[in-house]
Amino acid sequence: MWDADGNRYLDLAGSAAVNFIGHGVPEISSAMADQAAKIEFVHTSQFTTPVAEEYAEELLAFAGENFHGGAVYFTCGGSESIETALKLARQYQVEVGQTFRHQILSREQSYHGSTLGALSVSGNKRRREMYLPMVREFARVGMPYCYRCDFDCTDGCRNCGQQYAAELERAIEASNGQTAAFIFEPVSGATLGAVVPPPGYLQSVAEICRRHGVLLIADEVMTGMGRTGRNFAVEHSNVASDILVTAKGLSSGYAPLGAVIASKRVVDAIAAGSGAFLHGFTYNAHPISLAAGRAVLHHLQAKKLVEAADSSCPGTTAAQFKQALETLRAEEAVGDVRGIGLLWAVEFVSDKASKRPFPVSQNFAGSVGAAALKRGLLVYPMQGSVDGISGDHLLLAPPAIVTPDQIAWSIERLAESIREAK
Ligand SMILES: Cc1ncc(COP(=O)(O)O)c(C=O)c1O
Repeated sequence: MWDADGNRYLDLAGSAAVNFIGHGVPEISSAMADQAAKIEFVHTSQFTTPVAEEYAEELLAFAGENFHGGAVYFTCGGSESIETALKLARQYQVEVGQTFRHQILSREQSYHGSTLGALSVSGNKRRREMYLPMVREFARVGMPYCYRCDFDCTDGCRNCGQQYAAELERAIEASNGQTAAFIFEPVSGATLGAVVPPPGYLQSVAEICRRHGVLLIADEVMTGMGRTGRNFAVEHSNVASDILVTAKGLSSGYAPLGAVIASKRVVDAIAAGSGAFLHGFTYNAHPISLAAGRAVLHHLQAKKLVEAADSSCPGTTAAQFKQALETLRAEEAVGDVRGIGLLWAVEFVSDKASKRPFPVSQNFAGSVGAAALKRGLLVYPMQGSVDGISGDHLLLAPPAIVTPDQIAWSIERLAESIREAK
């Protein structure tokens, strides 16, 4: 990208983990223009459109077996989709006669969006602090974070994953049967920085939710649509969620778009009950946004970009990115490098042995971000990885078309930026 002064940037953050297919792909803008020429807008209370019907079928297939017979609800982005999912979970419970279920449990150090409902289930301290008097509080449970494990583990958190899952079960029990759903990011996003759950944890979470009649909502706003090297990140753990939420990479930034993908169980309960989901935004299923999203889906499938984002497969773009990032461990200020696919984070420490973070006031991640920007490299700096306030990290989420030369150039610039910030 070039700015108005002609400065050139390489965007290693994909804006904010949005752009997955790269900028300026001509078939996306053509698809949008073709759609605009046919019909630019109809209200979903009056009409549906071919693009909505066909794209929904394709997305259900992309989401896999678990969503066979399900349905898709299109919105304009992540937060709108999360609000939709929370209300859908509540309506499901009412339809199946569980009218007392209204609580949504979630995790500390999570982020589900900036609207008040989404913020109320988010754990991100910095983003919610000012609005606390306005948000509804439900219980939040801990999240496995192997680099700073609460349980002093020595087995890569295999066992403590079960302790975190047990914490969820205790929270469900403590809600006295009022829990409607549990919402989680299958790989944590910006707040904690690309933390991958330990083996077995999400499977146990899914089993506990099923046993207690609690719906499982996977927030794949950031991790969905190939970002982690699978269509959706839950596939890494073979977990079947009842509701899957996605946005960002769904349209890769070409148009505002989000989607709530509901399983047959949820759809059938509403169809057999009141018959309609009591919810709506004027711009639901906007035809031009859907044309963009559908063209993005076709493009990423034709170019095999999900495969390119698979970091476990030698030789892929993501495997090269992972390998290059690992070299940053040699830097004095780098405590951890973690992630999967094309979603990675680098966590900074002032002392490697004790994992002591930098003082909050130093804003180390911000300084690295500024030093990188000076060099023409865009990254996503965050603070709060240790306890919501202290701790510094960068989120890195390049488009899947990033080349080996660009990766090598970026990591050199990043290493220089880390040294400059020290
Ligand atoms: C996991 C997750 N959920 C929800 C959201 C909110 O999405 P949006 O900013 O499109 O409203 C974000 C945004 O960063 C996110 O990362």
